Amino acid sequence: MMYRFINLIITLAPLATVLCNAKVLWSSTSATNYSNIIREAYLLGNGRLGAMPFGSPGNEKIVLNVDSLWAGGPFGATNYTGGNPSEEKYTYLSGIRDWIFQNTTGNVSQLLGKSDGYGSYQVMGNLSVLHNATMMPGTYRRQLDLDTGIHTTVFSDVVGNAFTASILCSYPDQVCIYQLDSNGTLPELSIRLENQLVNSTLANSTCGHGYTGLTGITQVGPPEGMRYEGVVRIVGAGNISTRCDEERGLMVVPRTSGLRSLSIVVGAGTNYDQTKGNAASNFSFRGDDPAEYVQSVTSEAASHSSSQLRQRHLNDYQRLSSAFTLDLPDSDNSSNVETSVLFGRYDSNNGDPYVESLLLDYSRHLLISSSRDNSLPANLQGRWSPDLAAAWSADYHANINLQMNYWGAEQTGLGEIQHGLWRYMQDTWVPRGTETAKLLYGAPGWVTHDEMNVFGHTGMKEDAQWANYPASAAWMMQHVTDHFSYSQNMTWLKETGYPLLKGVTQFWLSQLQEDRYWNDGTLVVNPCNSPEHGPTTFGCTHYQQLLHQLFANMLVLGPLASEPDSAFITNISITLSRLDKGFHLTSWDGVKEWKLPDPEDSQVYDFQNDTHRHLSHLWGWYPGLSLSSPSASFLSGYTNRTIQDAVATSLYSRGIGNGPDANSGWEKVWRSACWARLNNTERAYFELKYAIEQNFVGNGLSMYSGKNPPFQIDANFGFAGTVLSMLVVDVEEVGMGGDERTVVLGPAIPKEWGNGSVKGFRIRGGGAVSFGWDADGKVSWVKGDNEGVRFVDKDGKEIVA
Ligand SMILES: *[C@@H]1O[C@H](CO)[C@@H](O)[C@H](O)[C@H]1NC(C)=O
Ligand SMILES: *[C@@H]1O[C@H](CO)[C@@H](O)[C@H](O)[C@H]1NC(C)=O
Ligand SMILES: *[C@@H]1O[C@H](CO)[C@@H](O)[C@H](O)[C@H]1NC(C)=O
Ligand SMILES: *[C@@H]1O[C@H](CO)[C@@H](O)[C@H](O)[C@H]1NC(C)=O
Ligand SMILES: *[C@@H]1O[C@H](CO)[C@@H](O)[C@H](O)[C@H]1NC(C)=O
Ligand SMILES: *[C@@H]1O[C@H](CO)[C@@H](O)[C@H](O)[C@H]1NC(C)=O
Ligand SMILES: *[C@@H]1O[C@H](CO)[C@@H](O)[C@H](O)[C@H]1NC(C)=O
Ligand SMILES: *[C@@H]1O[C@H](CO)[C@@H](O)[C@H](O)[C@H]1NC(C)=O
Ligand SMILES: *[C@@H]1O[C@H](CO)[C@@H](O)[C@H](O)[C@H]1NC(C)=O
Ligand SMILES: *[C@@H]1O[C@H](CO)[C@@H](O)[C@H](O)[C@H]1NC(C)=O
Ligand SMILES: *[C@@H]1O[C@H](CO)[C@@H](O)[C@H](O)[C@H]1NC(C)=O
Ligand SMILES: *[C@@H]1O[C@H](CO)[C@@H](O)[C@H](O)[C@H]1NC(C)=O
Repeated sequence: MMYRFINLIITLAPLATVLCNAKVLWSSTSATNYSNIIREAYLLGNGRLGAMPFGSPGNEKIVLNVDSLWAGGPFGATNYTGGNPSEEKYTYLSGIRDWIFQNTTGNVSQLLGKSDGYGSYQVMGNLSVLHNATMMPGTYRRQLDLDTGIHTTVFSDVVGNAFTASILCSYPDQVCIYQLDSNGTLPELSIRLENQLVNSTLANSTCGHGYTGLTGITQVGPPEGMRYEGVVRIVGAGNISTRCDEERGLMVVPRTSGLRSLSIVVGAGTNYDQTKGNAASNFSFRGDDPAEYVQSVTSEAASHSSSQLRQRHLNDYQRLSSAFTLDLPDSDNSSNVETSVLFGRYDSNNGDPYVESLLLDYSRHLLISSSRDNSLPANLQGRWSPDLAAAWSADYHANINLQMNYWGAEQTGLGEIQHGLWRYMQDTWVPRGTETAKLLYGAPGWVTHDEMNVFGHTGMKEDAQWANYPASAAWMMQHVTDHFSYSQNMTWLKETGYPLLKGVTQFWLSQLQEDRYWNDGTLVVNPCNSPEHGPTTFGCTHYQQLLHQLFANMLVLGPLASEPDSAFITNISITLSRLDKGFHLTSWDGVKEWKLPDPEDSQVYDFQNDTHRHLSHLWGWYPGLSLSSPSASFLSGYTNRTIQDAVATSLYSRGIGNGPDANSGWEKVWRSACWARLNNTERAYFELKYAIEQNFVGNGLSMYSGKNPPFQIDANFGFAGTVLSMLVVDVEEVGMGGDERTVVLGPAIPKEWGNGSVKGFRIRGGGAVSFGWDADGKVSWVKGDNEGVRFVDKDGKEIVA
């Protein structure tokens, strides 16, 4: 299997078609209902900081989040273990396995742990800017411009002064910036950082000349909780007089004749340090007091002019946002309609291509805003939570959700923002997960389960159906492999990607068992639970598919990364040859989710019309490749009718993603992506539209329970992955197949998107393409690098660049 180096020369030919207009989310009413802010506000961030502007004109507030601000963990209890037991438990495994092989199902009661001290992501506080101007009705508008990443509010007061408040969160300067401009003299301004959810034992607002701040702690202790600090500074403070109301920590900027513009920066941090999540640091995760960092980052930012700050933000933001463009027709003339109206009237019978392209752009904005190389990865709510205790702790669920957050990254040119994700796994998963592997499984390498916090929680929680999920890291390894596949960065592979892959591979090589139920000579996982569904059993399809892909990839990547241990590679190769590949048919010709016998009279498992939310057994079809890819080492389902039909049968059986167990957005966009890979435009587009109709609310965010909170960001991110899968099928991994790869353009482009185009679509092997399609959605032209790549349309007809 020879790896072919592809020179990275990106030559994007100029596009003939006119670019679409910059998209904005906008509203003519302010977001003033605090308990509904998550369905009204437009979100901003710079990776580490998240901002949700709300409030009425003259009484503006911005909810601020900091990526690492979590209660619990070692900051909550000194005996915190990341969910690991105090003694070895792997000795129970052989009994558990025997029982399961004899009885087909069983339990892992002896391995289960607790959620003790797990903690929750929590809000830092609000930046409040009060100037009590009385608004002239009908002059208000707030908007988030997805071309600039800047949120703007405009209104006029009753005496005729016009105001513009703009907010941006800058990655280069690591602060958010609020700027108020008026064409008259600014009124007196009262500025404060506040946390109204806790009292002064836990947080205090403070102020001094030209600044105001908030200092807090997640618990008084002992042990002392996590410390957090935010500071607001006036840009160019030397020229502006301020007054400090010490009791309330309020900085007052008096009305000063001729002062028509004021800019402030806000920076924040905590004493969390993810590099202290290992045995050498006693898993303390405790770093320096944030005061010094926050003082210096805000002083530095405030020393620039506001136009410099804005320009530095634009250079950074637009480099990322403009790396990819989807241009769809605005057939309903929606670009001038208020955003909440667009979502309110959206229905799955008609759709609205403008809304669909808006959500694609918003998805990329949200990822750029919640995940950067110096931040923690995007969590269940991205970066945005207005509460002290978030739903599911706003943690990292890794049996679909964390993965889905990154579905849109590589192909839209945001591969680099994932460095925080790699560091998160290296620093917080590997050290504790190495212990978990030893204690629970007697295994080398490392392992994580379904739910992870920022404190290295890698143990198994208390309920097997969702907690017995040691496959989460194996799934994440798809993202690691993909990062190399798209970036071709050999340095990164050797330093970062391969060590992660190797640890997970070592773990799984040690865990596979010869199938003693079917005695078919294959190797299977035992025990396993398919994510959040069914019994504890053996040979769960989902795990088998994940391991098929992991091992096959390792055989290519090991030699590339100069793996010195040839016995390790041989072991992978032998194990792979005996591995059950996770494709068995149900009696009704769907894909089996479990390798369980299927009694003729009663379909206890794998029964028809089981509308469960997860599509775990179709993982190898999408997002995985083990079923779908025609590469020689996979099952070649992309061109195999048996597999395609089984996937389609399972998808029909699974329903449209509104079963009694959940009516969430992520299950719908996953279904859509699977249909797209089957070239089924009608089903793919329906599921996409159905997700918007059912789950996306007036500010473009996706809710978990129909249109009701909790907010869970995965469907916003998964939306991008789904649109991308309707545009391109790029499933032949570089180095895995023949000499020439085939990429299918336009597998599922609906005619409603007719005459659209896309620019900057990354393909495997490095490089990007642009292409467009005709009124029927059939791709008609392609430009870009295509060395070694053959582009075909949906009918298999070659499209020559
Ligand atoms: C504010 O939002 C909450 C939650 O959606 C809702 O129950 C309440 O009625 C809203 N209040 C007002 C005044 O609209
Ligand atoms: C830590 O100590 C508390 C209080 O004694 C106890 O309830 C908890 O179970 C302990 N946690 C662990 C992981 O041992
Ligand atoms: C769980 O499995 C163990 C064997 O691993 C067995 O001893 C125990 O009885 C089982 N418990 C239940 C409730 O089935
Ligand atoms: C299978 O389950 C039965 C209880 O139904 C139990 O008695 C038996 O020990 C189990 N088999 C094994 C090998 O544990
Ligand atoms: C606006 O607030 C200032 C204090 O910040 C107060 O002196 C003034 O009376 C207020 N004006 C109105 C119209 O409420
Ligand atoms: C400020 O702008 C508003 C709206 O354009 C206008 O009506 C008003 O006259 C302007 N005021 C001044 C002082 O220029
Ligand atoms: C302040 O909060 C702490 C911690 O939640 C609590 O123990 C204390 O009673 C509160 N004090 C007041 C005055 O509410
Ligand atoms: C807030 O101030 C009070 C009074 O000075 C002090 O007791 C408390 O410890 C402070 N809280 C924090 C989190 O610094
Ligand atoms: C490749 O990866 C290395 C190590 O992570 C990084 O420093 C470098 O910037 C990457 N190169 C490119 C072109 O992204
Ligand atoms: C499954 O659902 C479909 C559509 O509702 C129905 O036609 C079919 O009869 C059902 N099949 C079974 C086995 O329940
Ligand atoms: C299609 O896939 C199935 C399942 O892997 C396999 O048994 C069959 O031989 C394949 N058919 C062809 C034509 O390759
Ligand atoms: C989808 O189209 C591609 C390209 O023509 C083809 O190779 C593939 O087999 C098709 N899949 C299905 C399910 O028809």
